[in-house]
Amino acid sequence: DTRIPDFLVNLTVDKDTTLLPVIAGVRVYPEYIADGALVIDDETGLIINYGSREAMLANYVLTATNDSQEPVQIHDHRHKLIMPGFIDTHVHYPQIDMIAAYGEQLLDWLNNYTFVTEANFGDPKIAHDTAQFFLNQLLANGTTSAMVFATSHPLSAEAFFAESHRLNTRMITGNVLMDQNAPEPLCVPAEQSIRDTQNIIDNWHERGRQHVAITPRFAITSSPTQLRLAGELYASHDSVYLQTHLAENRDEVAFVQELYPNHKGYLDVYDDMGLLGRRTTLAHGIYLETPEYERLRATGTQISHCPTSNLFLGSGLFDLPKTLSYTGVSIATDVGAGTSLSMLTTLSEAYKVQQLQSNQLSAHQGLYQITLGNAQSLLLDDKIGNFMPSKEADFVVIDMKATALLERRMAQTKTLEEQLFVLIMLGDDRVIEQTIIAGQSRYRKSAV
Ligand code: GUN
Ligand code: ZN
Repeated sequence: DTRIPDFLVNLTVDKDTTLLPVIAGVRVYPEYIADGALVIDDETGLIINYGSREAMLANYVLTATNDSQEPVQIHDHRHKLIMPGFIDTHVHYPQIDMIAAYGEQLLDWLNNYTFVTEANFGDPKIAHDTAQFFLNQLLANGTTSAMVFATSHPLSAEAFFAESHRLNTRMITGNVLMDQNAPEPLCVPAEQSIRDTQNIIDNWHERGRQHVAITPRFAITSSPTQLRLAGELYASHDSVYLQTHLAENRDEVAFVQELYPNHKGYLDVYDDMGLLGRRTTLAHGIYLETPEYERLRATGTQISHCPTSNLFLGSGLFDLPKTLSYTGVSIATDVGAGTSLSMLTTLSEAYKVQQLQSNQLSAHQGLYQITLGNAQSLLLDDKIGNFMPSKEADFVVIDMKATALLERRMAQTKTLEEQLFVLIMLGDDRVIEQTIIAGQSRYRKSAV
């Protein structure tokens, strides 16, 4: 199955090249092929090779027909850009039903809107329908993998896995652990909630392309017992992930300090409970002290930066260069506090958040981040993130001229860097023409 794009961008890292901006100690360069092709094995859904159209045709299409094998299918995406699928490292699927809720900062927003909506997910029909809607929205935005919060109802995670498994998307989720400081219907006693996660691990972890994350919501809504049990469960599984929130909002940080007056800070609570490590992703990390950055580094704990959420909730400005100087950073939407599922829109807001602090975020750096960079942060870069042979064929076909404005503006560009920057600033779900999961087309933009 050969796809022929006019453009193909394969974002790669190389520790030695001196080409482009430094992210986390590695340099990034886009491998751009003006007239390229991606060769995919339909049966396995894996990438066989990529390169110039001419070379791919000569090596795969012509030889295959000569050997009188199955004819190679050719998909022509001339004049379109083909990129690896986008990866969202922090998003709440049930919150798609209350995205864009007015007027509050984090703690009031949670109490007044979020918990009310999440309480509905004890209903299997709501969980299933919302998981299906949400996953289709991800595909429409070119997102092919995500690390996702469900709700505290185990069936909300099971419904999500069932739908993701059907689509064959690579996804990470788990039941949300909450047993205090939240409405009663969302609280599950510590021992029960951990048994729920263990069941979900047994049923779903590494089944097909699914992965489980132990998911304490944050220090405020879990008792010390629940956090400690979560840490013990994490220690007993090598390949299971852990996700939670950290230091997003000043009132949140003060509340954690009240709950844990004898700890050295917010991160120290998670550290003490055994929640830190290379497979841990903490969303936000805006309000941290130097010893906390040092513990992130020592434990390999990853931070997920969520710019549209930080702006929407008025949480604060994330210091990207500083955080990167200590540990791996990924980028994410955090819908429903985030206001868009588009990773392009998310990059555009990340750029502005850095502008306010006189920091730079280039188009190459940004596009690297939402593909291979996020894959590395999640330790999935052996499977997804670029077009290396034997990786999974998750990719998007992008229409760089999807709107009248994009078409007009692109006509004025002279360099690839410029085109990609305009794409980030002006693009969103409208530029995603098609989304392919493990070689199978799962989304096609409808003609307008
Ligand atoms: N902190 C705890 N829960 C949440 C949540 O659902 N969204 C955000 N943005 N922060 C949180
Ligand atoms: Zn979140």
